[in-house]
Amino acid sequence: MNNLQKNTGLRHFLQFKDFDRAEHEYLLARAADIKAKFKRYERYQPLADRTLAMIFEKASTRTRVSFEAGMYQMGGVVVNLTSGDSQLGRAEPIEDTARVISRMVDIVMIRTYEQTKLERFASYSRVPVINGLTNEFHPCQIMADIFTFIEQRGSITGKTVAWVGDGNNMANTWLQAAEILDFKLHVSTPRGYEVNSSVVGLQGKDHFSVFQDPIEACKDADLVTTDVWTSMGYEAENDQRRAAFANWCVDTKMMRVAKPDALFMHCLPAHRGEEVSAEVIDGPQSVVWDEAENRMHVQKALLEYLLLGKIS
Ligand code: CP
Ligand code: NVA
Repeated sequence: MNNLQKNTGLRHFLQFKDFDRAEHEYLLARAADIKAKFKRYERYQPLADRTLAMIFEKASTRTRVSFEAGMYQMGGVVVNLTSGDSQLGRAEPIEDTARVISRMVDIVMIRTYEQTKLERFASYSRVPVINGLTNEFHPCQIMADIFTFIEQRGSITGKTVAWVGDGNNMANTWLQAAEILDFKLHVSTPRGYEVNSSVVGLQGKDHFSVFQDPIEACKDADLVTTDVWTSMGYEAENDQRRAAFANWCVDTKMMRVAKPDALFMHCLPAHRGEEVSAEVIDGPQSVVWDEAENRMHVQKALLEYLLLGKIS
């Protein structure tokens, strides 16, 4: 928490662990209420006259649509910027950008490269800042994934989630979530692509186990999840990664050793035949479309919380 946050009570959501367990549980419950209103076609516009600015330095489909549609549904408006069409692409300092934008809007979502860039923006912002994906973390996605798990199977506490693939932004965020919400993460990555625990910043070692063999990681899991072999920003390593990740494709063999009612999740976009077989992602255990839709519902709860606080 920086000085501005201390003095003003301003909150940001830059990493999953920026909220404690009670806050995450509140947000998950709130997301369920907000989703139910949406499904009933009930108008709910507590953010009338509020503006969200979104800054995309990387491509997006789900994040853009879910934040934009969600903000409009809640009565607010959205301004969308990219590096290419703003002065960010012409080297205006992120600190100056933060000072200017945060005088004009009520809340900001950023998708960028280094987490430090997001942190620099947040420390100069007068308004809440949300991480819409960095190289290190993707907290809105994990909120949606956990919401989806709970919707399908009940509490995630005490359950086992198998992470098969790159030690990337998704894996890092799952690790933070496991510690906060008290479940177990089985992590299997190829050698050289392990998670960096100093980036994740865990309190202890009780909530994760590392497996060389992805099949071992999937044994008795309640949820098996993966992500692309090459994340945005790492495209130059594509060929090398294809070779290294060849055995880290979630297929029916992996799903068979998980619990019989195990779910499959993927944040999308997916590459069938690489990190997941078509049979699994398009099969009965896959909940990827609910997972994508739920981005919008959890983010509506997040926007409401950051702008209006708890709704009693
Ligand atoms: N899962 C996710 O963040 O998707 P987009 O890159 O399409 O936003
Ligand atoms: N790990 C992926 C997630 C995309 C939503 C990436 O960073 O590109």
